[in-house]
Amino acid sequence: MKIDKNNSSQNQCKDRRTMTSLTPSQIVAELDRFIIGHSEAKKAVAIALRNRWRRQQVPSPLREEILPKNILMIGPTGVGKTEIARRLSRLADAPFIKVEATKFTEVGYVGRDVEQIIRDLMEIAVSETKERNKLLFRKQAQSRAEAKILDILVGENASVETREKFKKMMESNQLEDKEIEIEVTEHAASQSFDIPGMPGSQIGMLSLSDVMNNALGINKTKKRTVTISEARQLVAKEESEKLIDKDKTVRDAIYAVEQNGIVFIDEIDKICAKNASRSGADISREGVQRDLLPLIEGCSVTTKYGTIKTDYILFIASGAFHVSKPSDLLPELQGRLPIRVELGNLSEDDFFRILMETESSLTKQYDALLKIEGVNLDFTEDGIKKIAEMAAIVNQNVENIGARRLHTIVEKLLEEISFTADQRSGESVAINAKYVEDKVGHLAIHKDLSKFIL
Ligand SMILES: Nc1ncnc2c1ncn2[C@@H]1O[C@H](COP(=O)(O)OP(=O)(O)OP(=O)(O)O)[C@@H](O)[C@H]1O
Ligand SMILES: [Mg+2]
Repeated sequence: MKIDKNNSSQNQCKDRRTMTSLTPSQIVAELDRFIIGHSEAKKAVAIALRNRWRRQQVPSPLREEILPKNILMIGPTGVGKTEIARRLSRLADAPFIKVEATKFTEVGYVGRDVEQIIRDLMEIAVSETKERNKLLFRKQAQSRAEAKILDILVGENASVETREKFKKMMESNQLEDKEIEIEVTEHAASQSFDIPGMPGSQIGMLSLSDVMNNALGINKTKKRTVTISEARQLVAKEESEKLIDKDKTVRDAIYAVEQNGIVFIDEIDKICAKNASRSGADISREGVQRDLLPLIEGCSVTTKYGTIKTDYILFIASGAFHVSKPSDLLPELQGRLPIRVELGNLSEDDFFRILMETESSLTKQYDALLKIEGVNLDFTEDGIKKIAEMAAIVNQNVENIGARRLHTIVEKLLEEISFTADQRSGESVAINAKYVEDKVGHLAIHKDLSKFIL
């Protein structure tokens, strides 16, 4: 997100409306850096994201009529569904939350209130908006902090010359290690807990004195001795809190959630009722689906910041659906997830590319980890080919767990080096086809062994 340093009201208004303006092909290109294959799924989420931006340019009242088209991602385990969500959240530049649908069946009968998703999303938006606004006021807060520190340094009655002298010294960072005493506000961490029997409702735990102090505008302060460089940060933080308009922050956050919010519901297949003779668990699962309906359709959720309308929030649901089928979902819920994308199984070639091409591939991760011990891992191309081949074999013979198989294989492959790396500093180890064959080849071929080890 580009933040305008210039803090005119016009810019702030613009800021309130910013969201990613990446084009669909740019979004796909960004996802491609981390995820191999699944071009259809990437396209679908890219279009959905772009449509939100398009909708914002449409004048009212037609804009209000345009509702997001929610997405259902269907694909076997370990092919990158959650990964797409994770990467998308960084791109979206919009309030984003990922929840597991099963979370709502766990506690009690229907479990946690699904409306909590929107409350949590709102919390995320508020803290993001706060951070964004803090950036806008950073310069101002810094210069206020410097003036305050200078006051403490030279005292109130100092002559103009002395003040100037110290100011120069501060500006040239000569006093960074000098200690001063400052007063900092103590924020009592307010805790909250669920009210038993009323899932989702929360009450904050505040002591009576906190409530009184807040009502009277009294904040507890504490004296601390810190270096000037620390004081700069602490005081600037306090000053920026003062500069931020709290009401506007909340208004902006509500706008962001209502207009740009994205909710990713993972493991949605796990809340399908499995059979006709409904057990208690099935009823609970179906209950979660029923609870989700109004949320996805558009309803109002009360939060501590005010009421949030969910009409324009984009919902992306995803699930493996290897036991149940999308048609096992409540018909109403199916209807509310009109865009279906299927993610196919990953091939041996995909595994190769996942290891070779992705920006934070497993091979790069292990290489970086072992570099810390001074051991250099040299993955050769034929070595990586072999790993991909092994992964495909074990997935076929034992169980298809997608790219997660690469994790188990690479972990096993490097077990010995990982264990002894501290004594092998300076060594370089070639991970070639032979090495892979020697370390895990026998495990991959023997079905019984691979069942337990890989
Ligand atoms: N297509 C892919 N490209 C790159 N990495 C991938 C791909 N698919 C999976 N991975 C990697 O495999 C691991 C598991 O992927 P992920 O968590 O996205 O699976 P999933 O599809 O959500 O599976 P599940 O249905 O079990 O939740 C992650 O570490 C991810 O980075
Ligand atoms: Mg997942």
